[in-house]
Amino acid sequence: MTVERLIQSRDEFWAAGFTGDLAELIPLLQYYQETHGYISPEGVEAIAGFLGISEARVYTVASFYAQFRFQKPGKNHVFVCLGTACHVQGGVDLANEIHEHLHIRNGETTPDGQFDFKEVACLGCCAQAAVVEVNGKIYAKMNREKLRKVLKEHQHA
Ligand code: FES
Repeated sequence: MTVERLIQSRDEFWAAGFTGDLAELIPLLQYYQETHGYISPEGVEAIAGFLGISEARVYTVASFYAQFRFQKPGKNHVFVCLGTACHVQGGVDLANEIHEHLHIRNGETTPDGQFDFKEVACLGCCAQAAVVEVNGKIYAKMNREKLRKVLKEHQHA
């Protein structure tokens, strides 16, 4: 990142109300993700520079929290629930279907930018397990075949 970009980021963080206090690390990560869609390597560099800490430290903290993503989001957002109820009803199988069908793993985005994928702990509708959410819509009592159909509906839609 150029010095100009670092200064630009610093000014942006100041304008957003940040002061450079180390306690702002998580709020800064949240702010960066909200405004840029994900935590890019440039974002890590900008935050590390602003707080005066190493990029490794920013990565370590950010990767501890499932809420942060390090890849550009896809057009369609797929969440597979791996909470207890969904796990028992084949949630892992659904996550494997995503790996095999879309060739991406938890937190990744397909190279064509069509899908991003996250494993989550509970989507709040355990009675409907196994549950998948795509673009905010809940798909209940899922299996591999149903999931393939849902993905097909969204592909290039
Ligand atoms: S465990 Fe999957 S919705 Fe609650």
